[in-house]
Amino acid sequence: MTLSQPHGGSLVNRWNPSYNTTKIAKEIELDGIALSDLELIGTGAYSPIEGFLIKEDYESVVNNLRLANGSVWSIPITLPVTKEVAGSLSIGEEARLVKNGVTYGTITISDIYEPDKTKEAQKVYQTDDEAHPGVLKMFQRGNIYIGGQITLVKRIEREQFDTFYLDPADTRKVFEEKGWKTVVGFQTRNPVHRAHEYIQKTALETVDGLFLNPLVGETKSDDIPADVRMESYQVLLKNYYPADRVFLAVFPAAMRYAGPREAIFHAMVRKNYGCTHFIVGRDHAGVGSYYGTYDAQLIFGQFTADELGISLLFFEHSFYCSKCENMASTKTCPHGKEDHVILSGTKVRELLRNGEIPPSTFSRQEVVEVLIKGMKNTVEV
Ligand code: ADX
Repeated sequence: MTLSQPHGGSLVNRWNPSYNTTKIAKEIELDGIALSDLELIGTGAYSPIEGFLIKEDYESVVNNLRLANGSVWSIPITLPVTKEVAGSLSIGEEARLVKNGVTYGTITISDIYEPDKTKEAQKVYQTDDEAHPGVLKMFQRGNIYIGGQITLVKRIEREQFDTFYLDPADTRKVFEEKGWKTVVGFQTRNPVHRAHEYIQKTALETVDGLFLNPLVGETKSDDIPADVRMESYQVLLKNYYPADRVFLAVFPAAMRYAGPREAIFHAMVRKNYGCTHFIVGRDHAGVGSYYGTYDAQLIFGQFTADELGISLLFFEHSFYCSKCENMASTKTCPHGKEDHVILSGTKVRELLRNGEIPPSTFSRQEVVEVLIKGMKNTVEV
């Protein structure tokens, strides 16, 4: 076996720092999501996508979970602007993509269209309820989408954990240098608790390496901040993982909380980073009770293995069982709920904010210490 082929066959590279943008008069202001998407398109993390979706691809993704050319793609990567801004733009022209006065890229505009956002919400998020953070964000963004190929001309400067930002070409090189033929990707927006560790290590029993790839782009405000999480991952890896079998780098995308649809997106992107396998556990990328516990696994049944090009490793809801004295799931444990340590993310965050320590059967104490210290510094208690 070799590392996965990028989605669509080759890694997109739209990164050109010497591209001259000085003569491009028009500019489009990006929000945080669009800026992270621009960079991820440019570096090939979103291969085969080369720009913000034109209407044909957008509608195909929303309705059929595929780009117009048939490639599997589940989340619309869009560039929303206000009606006013859209009125000043024309098809065929180039515009600079700007945030806070800095030009990060350009777009050759090939489409300007008004999406049916209610339909987008219902199809992509399975709800148009604005209490859903991904849906709310989508409705808050501009009502006209601009489509077209991009060029990334400037990378985002990072002050924190900057050495953990690697492009797909870099992670592929790392995996090759390590001699890994099989690599399992792990997406998370949370600290790594015992259940995460259990499914990662179960996977590690059969593959060569684990790519711990936490999402550090925009998340909802009550999620644990990325800098605190990064510190917690490093402490955990140092104490409990074999250094030569794990690689930690960040995924700088925004979280959409689109559950099943986002699980497909997460898998395709990790394939681009070189992973051969990807973990999907319970309620992957879910929020509240919008999705069934295993919907994010079932959705992959719509595609053939060839179309996906990455092997999915599905895991049941896992927990510590006090009778087994071990991590387990209902697949491996015969005991009842009363013996299982199960805490919701919300409950854990509440404990941490109050400086209370979740049980060691839920989370490693070294991790908890980092989280409590970090939450004290970042959240008003
Ligand atoms: S998210 O990005 O998918 O929202 P989260 O940190 O909640 O991040 O989960 C990371 C991965 O671990 C997902 O694949 C999720 O399904 C899985 N997971 C989280 N908790 C458990 C658990 N208790 N049992 C099994 N899988 C889990």
